[in-house]
Amino acid sequence: NLKSTYKIASIPGDGIGPEVISATIDVLKALTKKLGTFELEFTDFDWGTERYLKTGRYTPQDYLQVLKEYDAILFGSVGSPSVPDHISLWGLRLAICQPLQQYANVRPTRILPGTKSPLANCQPGDLDWVIVRENSEGEYAGQGGRSHVGCEHEVATELSIFTRTGVRRIAQFAFSVAQNRPRKMLTYVTKSNAQRNGMVMWDEVVKEVAEDYPDVTVDHMLVDAMTVRMVLNPRSLDTILATNLHADILSDLAAALAGSIGIAPTANLDPTRKNPSMFEPIHGSAFDITGLGLANPVATFWTASEMLHWLGESEAAMSLMVAVENVCAAGIVTRDLGGQAGTKEVTDAVIQEILKIN
Ligand code: NAI
Ligand code: MG
Repeated sequence: NLKSTYKIASIPGDGIGPEVISATIDVLKALTKKLGTFELEFTDFDWGTERYLKTGRYTPQDYLQVLKEYDAILFGSVGSPSVPDHISLWGLRLAICQPLQQYANVRPTRILPGTKSPLANCQPGDLDWVIVRENSEGEYAGQGGRSHVGCEHEVATELSIFTRTGVRRIAQFAFSVAQNRPRKMLTYVTKSNAQRNGMVMWDEVVKEVAEDYPDVTVDHMLVDAMTVRMVLNPRSLDTILATNLHADILSDLAAALAGSIGIAPTANLDPTRKNPSMFEPIHGSAFDITGLGLANPVATFWTASEMLHWLGESEAAMSLMVAVENVCAAGIVTRDLGGQAGTKEVTDAVIQEILKIN
Protein backbone atom coordinates (compact mmCIF):
# COMPACT_ATOMS: atom_id res chain seq x y z
CA ASN A 1 0.00 0.00 0.00
CA LEU A 2 2.40 2.65 -1.30
CA LYS A 3 1.53 6.29 -0.65
CA SER A 4 1.75 8.60 -3.66
CA THR A 5 4.48 11.20 -3.47
CA TYR A 6 4.19 14.26 -5.68
CA LYS A 7 7.28 16.25 -6.60
CA ILE A 8 6.60 19.97 -6.46
CA ALA A 9 8.92 22.60 -7.93
CA SER A 10 8.58 25.74 -5.83
CA ILE A 11 9.55 29.08 -7.40
CA PRO A 12 8.91 31.82 -4.81
CA GLY A 13 10.31 34.61 -7.04
CA ASP A 14 10.19 38.27 -6.02
CA GLY A 15 8.54 40.65 -3.56
CA ILE A 16 5.90 38.97 -1.38
CA GLY A 17 6.28 35.75 -3.44
CA PRO A 18 8.68 34.13 -0.94
CA GLU A 19 6.44 35.14 2.00
CA VAL A 20 3.26 33.59 0.61
CA ILE A 21 5.00 30.50 -0.78
CA SER A 22 6.74 29.70 2.49
CA ALA A 23 3.41 30.13 4.36
CA THR A 24 1.78 27.78 1.85
CA ILE A 25 4.47 25.12 2.13
CA ASP A 26 4.01 25.18 5.94
CA VAL A 27 0.26 24.72 5.48
CA LEU A 28 0.68 21.91 2.94
CA LYS A 29 3.16 20.12 5.21
CA ALA A 30 0.67 20.30 8.08
CA LEU A 31 -2.08 19.02 5.78
CA THR A 32 -0.16 16.02 4.41
CA LYS A 33 1.04 15.12 7.90
CA LYS A 34 -2.49 15.29 9.30
CA LEU A 35 -4.10 13.32 6.45
CA GLY A 36 -1.29 10.80 6.03
CA THR A 37 -2.65 9.69 2.65
CA PHE A 38 -0.05 11.17 0.28
CA GLU A 39 3.19 13.12 0.36
CA LEU A 40 4.50 16.28 -1.22
CA GLU A 41 8.21 16.71 -1.84
CA PHE A 42 9.24 20.33 -2.42
CA THR A 43 12.32 21.57 -4.27
CA ASP A 44 13.00 25.30 -4.05
CA PHE A 45 14.34 27.22 -7.05
CA ASP A 46 15.90 30.67 -6.61
CA TRP A 47 14.69 31.86 -10.01
CA GLY A 48 13.89 35.55 -9.79
CA THR A 49 15.17 39.05 -10.26
CA GLU A 50 18.16 38.69 -7.93
CA ARG A 51 19.44 35.84 -10.09
CA TYR A 52 18.78 37.88 -13.25
CA LEU A 53 20.78 40.83 -11.94
CA LYS A 54 23.71 38.51 -11.13
CA THR A 55 23.67 36.23 -14.18
CA GLY A 56 21.59 37.95 -16.89
CA ARG A 57 19.00 35.14 -16.81
CA TYR A 58 15.99 34.41 -14.64
CA THR A 59 16.53 30.68 -14.98
CA PRO A 60 19.32 28.29 -15.88
CA GLN A 61 19.52 27.35 -19.61
CA ASP A 62 18.05 23.88 -19.06
CA TYR A 63 15.13 25.05 -16.92
CA LEU A 64 12.44 23.37 -19.03
CA GLN A 65 14.12 19.96 -18.72
CA VAL A 66 14.45 20.59 -14.99
CA LEU A 67 10.75 21.48 -14.59
CA LYS A 68 9.57 18.48 -16.63
CA GLU A 69 10.81 16.22 -13.80
CA TYR A 70 8.13 17.62 -11.48
CA ASP A 71 4.44 16.84 -11.03
CA ALA A 72 3.51 20.50 -10.54
CA ILE A 73 5.01 23.96 -10.14
CA LEU A 74 4.07 26.30 -7.29
CA PHE A 75 4.92 29.86 -8.27
CA GLY A 76 4.95 33.08 -6.22
CA SER A 77 5.42 36.21 -8.30
CA VAL A 78 7.98 37.82 -10.57
CA GLY A 79 8.70 41.50 -10.96
CA SER A 80 10.86 44.05 -9.21
CA PRO A 81 11.35 47.82 -9.36
CA SER A 82 14.92 47.19 -10.56
CA VAL A 83 13.91 45.51 -13.87
CA PRO A 84 11.29 46.59 -16.46
CA ASP A 85 8.17 44.43 -16.06
CA HIS A 86 8.19 43.13 -19.64
CA ILE A 87 11.69 41.71 -19.07
CA SER A 88 10.77 39.97 -15.81
CA LEU A 89 7.43 38.63 -17.05
CA TRP A 90 8.89 37.20 -20.27
CA GLY A 91 12.05 36.09 -18.45
CA LEU A 92 10.29 33.81 -16.01
CA ARG A 93 6.52 33.44 -15.97
CA LEU A 94 5.81 33.43 -19.69
CA ALA A 95 9.06 31.53 -20.26
CA ILE A 96 7.44 28.69 -18.33
CA CYS A 97 3.74 28.89 -19.38
CA GLN A 98 4.25 29.17 -23.11
CA PRO A 99 6.82 26.42 -23.87
CA LEU A 100 5.12 24.04 -21.42
CA GLN A 101 1.86 24.63 -23.33
CA GLN A 102 -0.07 25.55 -20.21
CA TYR A 103 -2.76 26.87 -22.48
CA ALA A 104 -5.60 26.97 -19.98
CA ASN A 105 -5.43 29.61 -17.29
CA VAL A 106 -8.17 28.93 -14.77
CA ARG A 107 -9.27 31.51 -12.22
CA PRO A 108 -12.02 30.57 -9.76
CA THR A 109 -13.53 33.53 -7.91
CA ARG A 110 -16.04 33.63 -5.11
CA ILE A 111 -16.70 35.61 -1.95
CA LEU A 112 -15.26 33.75 1.01
CA PRO A 113 -17.36 33.51 4.19
CA GLY A 114 -16.74 36.34 6.63
CA THR A 115 -15.44 38.64 3.90
CA LYS A 116 -17.22 41.40 2.04
CA SER A 117 -17.61 42.27 -1.59
CA PRO A 118 -17.30 45.99 -2.38
CA LEU A 119 -20.64 45.51 -4.17
CA ALA A 120 -23.27 46.67 -1.69
CA ASN A 121 -25.80 43.90 -2.23
CA CYS A 122 -23.53 41.01 -3.03
CA GLN A 123 -23.34 38.16 -0.49
CA PRO A 124 -21.25 34.98 -0.56
CA GLY A 125 -22.99 32.78 -3.14
CA ASP A 126 -24.01 35.72 -5.33
CA LEU A 127 -20.64 35.76 -7.00
CA ASP A 128 -19.26 32.32 -7.87
CA TRP A 129 -17.38 32.27 -11.15
CA VAL A 130 -14.63 30.41 -12.97
CA ILE A 131 -12.78 32.49 -15.53
CA VAL A 132 -11.02 30.47 -18.22
CA ARG A 133 -8.31 32.48 -19.93
CA GLU A 134 -6.56 31.48 -23.16
CA ASN A 135 -2.96 31.36 -22.00
CA SER A 136 -0.76 30.60 -25.01
CA GLU A 137 -1.46 33.03 -27.84
CA GLY A 138 -3.74 35.99 -28.59
CA GLU A 139 -2.59 39.43 -27.56
CA TYR A 140 0.36 38.04 -25.57
CA ALA A 141 1.92 36.07 -28.43
CA GLY A 142 4.89 38.42 -28.34
CA GLN A 143 4.85 39.31 -32.05
CA GLY A 144 5.41 42.83 -33.26
CA GLY A 145 8.25 45.27 -33.32
CA ARG A 146 9.49 48.81 -33.11
CA SER A 147 11.07 50.89 -35.88
CA HIS A 148 12.75 54.30 -35.61
CA VAL A 149 12.98 53.85 -31.85
CA GLY A 150 12.90 57.14 -29.97
CA CYS A 151 12.24 59.22 -33.11
CA GLU A 152 9.18 61.39 -33.51
CA HIS A 153 8.02 59.05 -36.30
CA GLU A 154 8.57 55.85 -34.30
CA VAL A 155 6.23 52.95 -35.19
CA ALA A 156 5.35 50.05 -32.90
CA THR A 157 3.13 47.05 -33.59
CA GLU A 158 1.73 44.45 -31.21
CA LEU A 159 0.24 41.62 -33.21
CA SER A 160 -2.45 39.35 -31.80
CA ILE A 161 -2.27 35.73 -32.97
CA PHE A 162 -5.37 33.56 -32.88
CA THR A 163 -5.28 30.03 -34.26
CA ARG A 164 -8.31 27.83 -34.85
CA THR A 165 -6.54 25.04 -32.94
CA GLY A 166 -5.75 27.35 -30.04
CA VAL A 167 -9.28 28.69 -29.79
CA ARG A 168 -10.89 25.27 -30.18
CA ARG A 169 -8.84 23.64 -27.45
CA ILE A 170 -9.48 26.42 -24.92
CA ALA A 171 -13.19 26.45 -25.81
CA GLN A 172 -13.41 22.68 -25.30
CA PHE A 173 -11.68 23.06 -21.97
CA ALA A 174 -14.02 25.87 -20.87
CA PHE A 175 -17.13 23.93 -21.89
CA SER A 176 -15.98 20.95 -19.88
CA VAL A 177 -15.42 23.21 -16.86
CA ALA A 178 -18.93 24.64 -17.29
CA GLN A 179 -20.41 21.16 -17.73
CA ASN A 180 -18.93 20.05 -14.41
CA ARG A 181 -20.43 22.95 -12.47
CA PRO A 182 -23.99 22.83 -11.16
CA ARG A 183 -25.39 25.68 -13.28
CA LYS A 184 -23.81 24.52 -16.58
CA MET A 185 -23.59 28.06 -17.97
CA LEU A 186 -20.86 29.52 -20.15
CA THR A 187 -20.45 33.15 -21.17
CA TYR A 188 -17.78 33.82 -23.79
CA VAL A 189 -16.29 37.23 -24.21
CA THR A 190 -14.79 38.81 -27.33
CA LYS A 191 -14.77 42.16 -29.10
CA SER A 192 -16.01 41.01 -32.47
CA ASN A 193 -17.71 44.26 -33.36
CA ALA A 194 -14.53 46.36 -33.53
CA GLN A 195 -11.99 43.60 -34.14
CA ARG A 196 -13.32 41.91 -37.21
CA ASN A 197 -10.81 39.10 -37.87
CA GLY A 198 -9.47 37.17 -34.91
CA MET A 199 -12.45 37.93 -32.70
CA VAL A 200 -14.95 36.89 -35.35
CA MET A 201 -13.09 33.60 -35.74
CA TRP A 202 -13.29 33.18 -31.95
CA ASP A 203 -17.06 33.59 -32.04
CA GLU A 204 -17.38 31.05 -34.86
CA VAL A 205 -15.16 28.44 -33.24
CA VAL A 206 -16.85 28.77 -29.83
CA LYS A 207 -20.26 28.26 -31.48
CA GLU A 208 -18.97 25.13 -33.26
CA VAL A 209 -17.59 23.69 -30.02
CA ALA A 210 -20.86 24.53 -28.22
CA GLU A 211 -22.66 21.96 -30.39
CA ASP A 212 -20.74 19.19 -28.60
CA TYR A 213 -21.99 20.41 -25.20
CA PRO A 214 -25.77 20.66 -25.64
CA ASP A 215 -26.35 20.62 -21.88
CA VAL A 216 -24.37 23.85 -21.39
CA THR A 217 -26.26 27.15 -21.80
CA VAL A 218 -24.11 29.59 -23.78
CA ASP A 219 -24.19 33.32 -24.20
CA HIS A 220 -21.88 35.92 -25.69
CA MET A 221 -20.72 39.31 -24.39
CA LEU A 222 -18.55 42.07 -25.79
CA VAL A 223 -15.77 42.73 -23.32
CA ASP A 224 -16.74 46.31 -22.50
CA ALA A 225 -20.34 45.35 -21.74
CA MET A 226 -19.04 42.40 -19.74
CA THR A 227 -17.40 44.71 -17.17
CA VAL A 228 -20.82 46.30 -16.58
CA ARG A 229 -22.57 42.93 -16.21
CA MET A 230 -19.95 41.66 -13.77
CA VAL A 231 -20.58 44.64 -11.53
CA LEU A 232 -24.36 45.00 -11.90
CA ASN A 233 -25.48 41.39 -12.26
CA PRO A 234 -22.85 39.02 -10.86
CA ARG A 235 -25.48 36.32 -10.24
CA SER A 236 -26.09 35.99 -13.97
CA LEU A 237 -22.59 34.59 -14.60
CA ASP A 238 -20.93 31.24 -13.92
CA THR A 239 -18.13 30.05 -16.25
CA ILE A 240 -16.49 32.76 -18.34
CA LEU A 241 -14.26 32.18 -21.38
CA ALA A 242 -12.10 34.97 -22.82
CA THR A 243 -8.87 35.74 -24.65
CA ASN A 244 -5.51 36.15 -22.98
CA LEU A 245 -5.75 39.96 -22.61
CA HIS A 246 -9.46 40.25 -21.92
CA ALA A 247 -9.48 37.53 -19.27
CA ASP A 248 -6.36 38.98 -17.66
CA ILE A 249 -8.20 42.23 -17.08
CA LEU A 250 -11.60 40.70 -16.23
CA SER A 251 -10.05 38.39 -13.65
CA ASP A 252 -8.44 41.27 -11.75
CA LEU A 253 -11.86 42.93 -11.70
CA ALA A 254 -13.39 39.65 -10.56
CA ALA A 255 -10.87 39.36 -7.72
CA ALA A 256 -11.60 42.90 -6.58
CA LEU A 257 -15.37 42.28 -6.71
CA ALA A 258 -14.88 39.15 -4.61
CA GLY A 259 -13.16 41.19 -1.92
CA SER A 260 -9.43 41.39 -2.67
CA ILE A 261 -6.72 40.46 -5.13
CA GLY A 262 -5.13 38.89 -2.03
CA ILE A 263 -7.47 35.87 -2.18
CA ALA A 264 -7.47 35.09 -5.92
CA PRO A 265 -5.84 31.88 -7.23
CA THR A 266 -4.73 30.77 -10.71
CA ALA A 267 -3.92 27.47 -12.35
CA ASN A 268 -1.91 27.42 -15.58
CA LEU A 269 -2.85 24.01 -16.93
CA ASP A 270 -1.56 21.78 -19.68
CA PRO A 271 -4.82 19.82 -20.02
CA THR A 272 -3.01 17.12 -22.04
CA ARG A 273 -0.88 16.48 -18.92
CA LYS A 274 2.24 16.08 -21.06
CA ASN A 275 3.88 18.85 -19.03
CA PRO A 276 3.62 19.89 -15.40
CA SER A 277 1.06 22.61 -14.71
CA MET A 278 1.85 25.77 -12.76
CA PHE A 279 -0.13 27.21 -9.86
CA GLU A 280 0.20 30.81 -8.63
CA PRO A 281 -1.73 33.57 -6.93
CA ILE A 282 -3.11 36.18 -9.34
CA HIS A 283 -1.40 39.03 -7.52
CA GLY A 284 2.09 40.29 -8.22
CA SER A 285 5.12 41.13 -6.09
CA ALA A 286 3.35 43.89 -4.09
CA PHE A 287 6.48 45.91 -3.31
CA ASP A 288 4.47 48.28 -1.16
CA ILE A 289 4.00 45.56 1.48
CA THR A 290 7.03 43.32 0.86
CA GLY A 291 8.86 42.28 4.02
CA LEU A 292 6.21 43.74 6.34
CA GLY A 293 4.42 40.48 7.15
CA LEU A 294 1.14 41.89 5.79
CA ALA A 295 0.69 39.83 2.62
CA ASN A 296 -2.55 37.90 2.46
CA PRO A 297 -1.53 34.25 2.03
CA VAL A 298 -5.09 33.10 1.17
CA ALA A 299 -4.61 33.49 -2.60
CA THR A 300 -1.69 31.08 -2.43
CA PHE A 301 -3.50 28.67 -0.09
CA TRP A 302 -6.42 28.57 -2.53
CA THR A 303 -3.88 28.13 -5.34
CA ALA A 304 -2.43 25.15 -3.48
CA SER A 305 -5.92 23.69 -3.17
CA GLU A 306 -6.32 23.98 -6.96
CA MET A 307 -2.97 22.21 -7.33
CA LEU A 308 -4.12 19.33 -5.11
CA HIS A 309 -7.30 18.99 -7.21
CA TRP A 310 -5.20 18.78 -10.36
CA LEU A 311 -2.95 16.13 -8.79
CA GLY A 312 -6.07 14.06 -8.06
CA GLU A 313 -6.10 14.72 -4.30
CA SER A 314 -9.54 16.32 -4.28
CA GLU A 315 -10.40 15.40 -0.72
CA ALA A 316 -7.27 17.10 0.58
CA ALA A 317 -7.99 20.06 -1.69
CA MET A 318 -11.45 20.45 -0.18
CA SER A 319 -10.19 20.04 3.39
CA LEU A 320 -7.69 22.83 2.77
CA MET A 321 -10.40 25.18 1.49
CA VAL A 322 -12.65 24.36 4.43
CA ALA A 323 -9.80 25.28 6.78
CA VAL A 324 -9.20 28.56 4.91
CA GLU A 325 -12.92 29.40 4.90
CA ASN A 326 -13.25 28.70 8.61
CA VAL A 327 -10.39 31.08 9.34
CA CYS A 328 -11.98 33.79 7.18
CA ALA A 329 -15.36 33.19 8.80
CA ALA A 330 -13.71 33.65 12.22
CA GLY A 331 -12.54 37.10 11.10
CA ILE A 332 -8.84 36.23 11.09
CA VAL A 333 -8.07 38.14 7.90
CA THR A 334 -5.40 40.53 6.64
CA ARG A 335 -5.79 44.29 6.09
CA ASP A 336 -6.71 44.02 2.42
CA LEU A 337 -9.88 42.25 3.65
CA GLY A 338 -10.46 44.83 6.36
CA GLY A 339 -8.90 42.76 9.15
CA GLN A 340 -5.97 43.15 11.54
CA ALA A 341 -4.09 39.88 11.10
CA GLY A 342 -0.69 39.45 9.47
CA THR A 343 0.54 36.68 7.16
CA LYS A 344 1.75 34.61 10.11
CA GLU A 345 -1.46 34.82 12.14
CA VAL A 346 -3.58 33.74 9.17
CA THR A 347 -1.14 30.91 8.40
CA ASP A 348 -1.07 29.69 12.01
CA ALA A 349 -4.87 29.83 12.19
CA VAL A 350 -5.20 27.72 9.01
CA ILE A 351 -2.74 25.18 10.44
CA GLN A 352 -4.80 25.04 13.66
CA GLU A 353 -7.92 24.35 11.56
CA ILE A 354 -6.06 21.59 9.70
CA LEU A 355 -5.12 19.96 13.00
CA LYS A 356 -8.88 19.74 13.78
CA ILE A 357 -9.65 17.65 10.67
CA ASN A 358 -10.72 14.16 11.71
P1 NAI B 1 0.35 43.61 -7.30
O1 NAI B 1 -0.63 42.51 -7.37
O2 NAI B 1 1.73 43.25 -6.90
O3 NAI B 1 -0.20 44.71 -6.27
C1 NAI B 1 -1.39 45.46 -6.46
C2 NAI B 1 -1.94 45.93 -5.11
O4 NAI B 1 -2.52 44.82 -4.43
C3 NAI B 1 -0.86 46.47 -4.18
O5 NAI B 1 -1.38 47.55 -3.44
C4 NAI B 1 -0.58 45.31 -3.27
O6 NAI B 1 -0.11 45.67 -1.98
C5 NAI B 1 -1.91 44.62 -3.19
N1 NAI B 1 -1.73 43.17 -2.99
C6 NAI B 1 -1.31 42.28 -3.93
N2 NAI B 1 -1.22 41.04 -3.40
C7 NAI B 1 -1.58 41.16 -2.11
C8 NAI B 1 -1.68 40.23 -1.03
N3 NAI B 1 -1.40 38.91 -1.20
N4 NAI B 1 -2.08 40.68 0.17
C9 NAI B 1 -2.37 41.97 0.34
N5 NAI B 1 -2.30 42.90 -0.63
C10 NAI B 1 -1.91 42.50 -1.84
O7 NAI B 1 0.34 44.33 -8.72
P2 NAI B 1 1.29 45.50 -9.29
O8 NAI B 1 1.58 46.48 -8.20
O9 NAI B 1 0.65 45.94 -10.52
O10 NAI B 1 2.62 44.78 -9.73
C11 NAI B 1 3.78 44.68 -8.91
C12 NAI B 1 4.80 43.81 -9.61
O11 NAI B 1 4.33 42.48 -9.71
C13 NAI B 1 5.15 44.26 -11.03
O12 NAI B 1 6.53 44.07 -11.23
C14 NAI B 1 4.34 43.32 -11.91
O13 NAI B 1 4.92 43.12 -13.17
C15 NAI B 1 4.41 42.04 -11.07
N6 NAI B 1 3.31 41.11 -11.34
C16 NAI B 1 3.63 39.80 -11.47
C17 NAI B 1 2.66 38.85 -11.65
C18 NAI B 1 3.06 37.43 -11.76
O14 NAI B 1 4.19 37.07 -11.47
N7 NAI B 1 2.19 36.53 -12.13
C19 NAI B 1 1.23 39.21 -11.74
C20 NAI B 1 0.99 40.64 -11.55
C21 NAI B 1 2.00 41.55 -11.36
MG1 MG C 1 -2.94 40.21 -14.50
